Amino acid sequence: MIEQIKIRRPDDWHVHLRDGPMLALATPYTARQFARAIVMPNLAPPITTVAAAEAYRDRIKAAVPRAIDFTPLMTAYLTDEIDPDEIERGFRENVFTACKLYPAGATTNSAAGVTDIGKITRVLDRLQAIGMPLLVHGEVVSPDIDIFDREAVFLDTVLSPTMRDFPDLKVVLEHITTRDSVQFVEASGLNLAATITAHHLRIDRNAMFDGGIRPHAYCLPVAKRRLHREALRKAATSGNPKFFLGTDSAPHQKHEKESACGCAGIFSAPYALESYVQTFEEENALDRFEAFASEFGPRFYGLPLNEGTVTLKRCTGDVAETITESELCLVPFHAGETLRWQMD
Ligand code: DOR
Ligand code: ZN
Repeated sequence: MIEQIKIRRPDDWHVHLRDGPMLALATPYTARQFARAIVMPNLAPPITTVAAAEAYRDRIKAAVPRAIDFTPLMTAYLTDEIDPDEIERGFRENVFTACKLYPAGATTNSAAGVTDIGKITRVLDRLQAIGMPLLVHGEVVSPDIDIFDREAVFLDTVLSPTMRDFPDLKVVLEHITTRDSVQFVEASGLNLAATITAHHLRIDRNAMFDGGIRPHAYCLPVAKRRLHREALRKAATSGNPKFFLGTDSAPHQKHEKESACGCAGIFSAPYALESYVQTFEEENALDRFEAFASEFGPRFYGLPLNEGTVTLKRCTGDVAETITESELCLVPFHAGETLRWQMD
């Protein structure tokens, strides 16, 4: 039995670090596990300018413990009105790494997002021309479409035509939750990849209704049927470089999740690697974990691989029920469970 694995330092290609006291709480957890992270821009107000991204990057760096070397990679939040020149300037000045497309109304702080992909044709043209990645929240927002179908319908009605009209655009379909998305990504060119979260590899939609309503298993895109989770586990552990790690760790206060209209998001940063590695072990794919966590992401983004290593040991560890700091109280993913691996 393998007792420990040592891998090149990994990156998180999709995370929410928030701002203010929540940023101070969340950032060290991500920085402890990952060398770099793609930081989501869905603050209130969202990050739509180079100046706002630089200021946010400084606030993130100030929240990283001094002994840790961590690089936040910033993203621009696309709106109907955003100026392609501002995006290109941020990319050339190494402030923006990518752009994030939130369909307006799809999720937390997405009200200012894109109302119709046709409105950002000039932006997509520019991204394609300069080789800047487009990160996509892949769900339609129409209330007529069943929430469990919103990702699959997005593939047909938005992503497929976009990939056809912009054949060289680099796209990451974020936090995929369906077999449909796995197949879509597999069948597309090398300019389309996908991130997979730790939680979508472990929970299916039943987790939200396990003996009662379970708000801490609620995120967007919402977890789907078991067959979809099985397809995600196969994809993540397949060794296909189009699938790589992105936690979508999304902290919300406990009381804001445990409410009549609870927030979407799972705070997985504290034990993300431990959770992923347990899945890879269950799939007999420990030998493929390093590539998923540390190689396929930077290769897709055209960034260097990290130096240094992290070690995960087979050793049980209990996950706290809550994480509390001054006025904040959060429930981490795996709360109250025992995990089989621990970071050294
Ligand atoms: O569950 C989610 N939480 N999904 C998202 O797309 C956004 C995120 C958040 O910001 O809370
Ligand atoms: Zn997200």
